[in-house]
Amino acid sequence: MSKQTTASDWVPLLVPDMPSPQVLMPWLERMHAARHYSNFGPLVRELEAEFAQRFDVPAEGLTTVANATLGLELVLQALAMPRGSRILLPAFTFVATATAVVRAGHVPVLTDVDPSTWMLTPELARAACAETHIDAVLPVATFGMPQDMQAWQLFERETGLPVVIDAAAGYGSQWLQGAHGTLVFSMHATKSLPAGEGGLVVSTRPGLAARVRQLSNFGINLDPASHLPVGALACIGSNAKLSEYHAAIGLASLQVWEAHAFQRRLLQSELVNELDKICDQQLSWQTPGPGGVLQAPSLLCVRVPDENVRISLERCCNQARIMVRRWYQPLLQYMPELSASVVTLNTKNSQLLAKTLLGLPFFLGINQEQRQLILNAVQRAWRECTG
Ligand SMILES: Cc1ncc(COP(=O)(O)O)c(C=O)c1O
Repeated sequence: MSKQTTASDWVPLLVPDMPSPQVLMPWLERMHAARHYSNFGPLVRELEAEFAQRFDVPAEGLTTVANATLGLELVLQALAMPRGSRILLPAFTFVATATAVVRAGHVPVLTDVDPSTWMLTPELARAACAETHIDAVLPVATFGMPQDMQAWQLFERETGLPVVIDAAAGYGSQWLQGAHGTLVFSMHATKSLPAGEGGLVVSTRPGLAARVRQLSNFGINLDPASHLPVGALACIGSNAKLSEYHAAIGLASLQVWEAHAFQRRLLQSELVNELDKICDQQLSWQTPGPGGVLQAPSLLCVRVPDENVRISLERCCNQARIMVRRWYQPLLQYMPELSASVVTLNTKNSQLLAKTLLGLPFFLGINQEQRQLILNAVQRAWRECTG
């Protein structure tokens, strides 16, 4: 009888780096003692106070949300642009960047990314604005690589267009950098500050984070100073509140963030060096831009010289039971559910990237045997392709 394949036979692509139940217990005990489980309870407020200190913004300059997707959607709603506004975003990103735009009632306009940072830059956005009408820009801190906030601030001032950074994977790398701006982070289990599910909106735009907070609580007014009574519906919102359970995990994760970020950087540089050696320095990697370096990598994305090398690499990994992923592919305009809702500009660099990029396993706690399996598979693929 053939042995059935199970997930545990494979080297996983990602393993969440979540706090253990024992570590969580003090926060859970506090939550239970307070009998407060959601609705901006003490743990959510404590987590938000920690973030306010780190981002150097006042308490009303940020709000937690249930996840980054809803964070993006509610930020777009809070900007109160007319329905059907045209929002510029990179073709090379996770689907949620675009679905948030569609769900907010707007039109995603897809444009290209820089070939080395893999990100939409202010220069590319200016070129897109010269070509077609754009109402707002949604650049992505791709795989957590920080965007240049001073440059985006200048772009906002010059064009008058609001800019919202989708920094889903960028906690700890993407900061305001002394500029004005709006950032949306994810605290999904696979991100650098994991809370299981969760999100964070940070904004220096007057009133924006407060409007997102209200929208995340159905649109109910909680401000006694408002012209509306407390409890009255001020706008049509959703339920996107972060629960106390998730805030507990976020607080526990925050305590070990520095140490884990260090380990992630170390692991990434070791793997990159080993892979570069095997492949005669012919691989390429995401390059930091003027926004700074990635502080807590959560993925390992390699770019191989051509499509055939990628096919061979995928086959060798598959044979060795190593999970790999074509991250952010196909490009958004080729997804049947999105293709009719988007406008696509030039995406030449993104097309090339999409043919040659592959995500390899990357997680804290990867063992020597798993690392060796990956190196052997890459070596086999490389030899196959280079003779
Ligand atoms: C670029 C980008 N945007 C948005 C999201 C969605 O984040 P969340 O899972 O918190 O909704 C992700 C998640 O991976 C992402 O990579």
